Amino acid sequence: MKALVLFAHPCPESFGAALHTRVVETLTERGWEVDDCDLNAEGFQPVLTEEERRNYHEEPSNIEPVKDYVERLRAAEALILSFPVWNFGYPAILKGFFDRVMLPGVSFKLVDGKVAPNLNHIRKLAAVTTYGGTRWRAFMAGDPPRKHFTRALWHVTRPEVMQYNALYDMNRATDAQRAAFLEKAGQKMKTL
Ligand SMILES: Cc1cc2nc3c(=O)[nH]c(=O)nc-3n(C[C@H](O)[C@H](O)[C@H](O)COP(=O)(O)O)c2cc1C
Repeated sequence: MKALVLFAHPCPESFGAALHTRVVETLTERGWEVDDCDLNAEGFQPVLTEEERRNYHEEPSNIEPVKDYVERLRAAEALILSFPVWNFGYPAILKGFFDRVMLPGVSFKLVDGKVAPNLNHIRKLAAVTTYGGTRWRAFMAGDPPRKHFTRALWHVTRPEVMQYNALYDMNRATDAQRAAFLEKAGQKMKTL
């Protein structure tokens, strides 16, 4: 199984980085071929430029500015996101990956103006994420990353398996709760 892991946290000493390491190690131990994409370390530029916006619907030339990332995404049979929730959304660097790489002709096709899935080679879809606030607080804000992941990303991939693994209330989490979630994330990657 070929997996693309998209990791979006700038600090190697963070809990998010520990989760990312656990994800990559567990999948590798399973014998999966893991393409570990650390967006910050790779210096991914998340801003869709004026030219890219003008060429957004021009297939296939629209992929030119991000061709390497498109090829990595197209090679994947599993897609795993590892990120903290910021402002009830994805960190900008990960949001920018969706804006710039998940283009028409890549993640979806426009058929009579409607989005048709085009990432059908993604058979397994998973997220490992943390929130500072409680699940209730996120719910009251609409929990946009959970919805984007389980609805919009689900729609373009139509995976056989989907997991949204979230630790809420990180601001008050004890060491034991963090350790338990780290363990849970590893277990989840074993069954993905
Ligand atoms: C810029 C920024 C924005 C944040 N916004 C939110 C938010 O909207 N909702 C929330 O629950 N937590 C928010 N947090 C808290 C993070 O989700 C939390 O610090 C993170 O999940 C903990 O992981 P880490 O220690 O690996 O960074 C924010 C943190 C930062 C740095």
